[in-house]
Amino acid sequence: MKKEIKFNSFYFSNNYTKNLENLFKDYELFRQKHYSKACLNILEEIYPKQDLLLCHSATGALELIALTLDIQEGDEVILPSFTFVSTANAFALRGAKLVFVDIEEQFLGLDPDLVEAAITDKTKAIIAVHYAGHACRIKELQALATKYHLSLIEDAAMCFGSSFEDQALGTFGDFGVISFDITKHISASQGGLLLINNKKYSTKAKDIYHVGTNRSAFEEGSIPYYEWISLGSKFQMPETNAVLLQEQLEQREQILHKLQILSKYYYSQLLQLAEKHSFSLMPAFQIENNFHEFYLRFSSRAERDLVATTFKKHGIEALFHYIPLHSSSFAKEHFPSPELKLSSAVSDQLLRLPLHTQVELNDIDYICSVLENYFKQ
Ligand SMILES: Cc1ncc(COP(=O)(O)O)c(C=O)c1O
Repeated sequence: MKKEIKFNSFYFSNNYTKNLENLFKDYELFRQKHYSKACLNILEEIYPKQDLLLCHSATGALELIALTLDIQEGDEVILPSFTFVSTANAFALRGAKLVFVDIEEQFLGLDPDLVEAAITDKTKAIIAVHYAGHACRIKELQALATKYHLSLIEDAAMCFGSSFEDQALGTFGDFGVISFDITKHISASQGGLLLINNKKYSTKAKDIYHVGTNRSAFEEGSIPYYEWISLGSKFQMPETNAVLLQEQLEQREQILHKLQILSKYYYSQLLQLAEKHSFSLMPAFQIENNFHEFYLRFSSRAERDLVATTFKKHGIEALFHYIPLHSSSFAKEHFPSPELKLSSAVSDQLLRLPLHTQVELNDIDYICSVLENYFKQ
């Protein structure tokens, strides 16, 4: 029988069923948000200086940021084109003009030089995306945001467990966002985390999070009742999802450790092959703490697609990634942009290999042997 290696999987634990059963049996656990609170207790240890809001998705957290910053029609927001639609939608929904800027070769994040050239007197924010869970040139973007009095938002959707110079990703900007979607290495099935680093936004963001009410002040005991005070929406994570997230957060060291071992193994097994043939691996310095994805880059889209088809024939699911937003039909109509060469090239070249807790080292041996045989043809 042909071996099947899926691109992703959900971390399995017997505790999910037990904890879900507890939740369904005891309405108080729902009402008290027992599992959400347990998640927050763990997350507060990881991000001790931030105000944290557990959200239904990173998409929701980004929308909450756009509301908090009071983004208006005509405001300009600078972001990479090589990202997920949610990075863009959150600000487009408030009427912002999206200004797509190209990425740089090494970290596949916003190129700070191009960002500076794109700043105008209408620019309100820079959105930094840390691709594959590795820091973009965040310190330079931070300096630009300070110099031009702009908000800095870190879309750290892929970054749970990742840091730069010993500082967790998501904690450099005014706001950071982490995803706990099913596609992420720590998952609530669907979920997200908003990190508020700049405390001047804390109260406003919390009010928006609580459907536009001052409920958090009420919960803290500083007012006798809560009422409608601003625009807002329901951004909270459902309690059933928090059950899944709590278990994965409890197991995070084990999960991240396994992903680290797999990443290092991929790298060591593929290095010689990459040197001999026309593809490259992720930068070596990223491998030690690589959790979210393991990608290869080929010389052309045609070659990348041929390799993906070969993998598929052998039961291996390897996937390309973002289609650059500036090249989409929606952006062409609403946010026309000059061609962004590197974003398009990287999108054509990149192929992601299976990286999740159900992958074993012998699966990687198999994946590498399929690639080796491809080059022998
Ligand atoms: C860079 C980036 N930002 C935001 C998101 C949205 O995350 P979520 O699915 O939790 O809404 C994703 C999802 O993959 C992403 O890759």
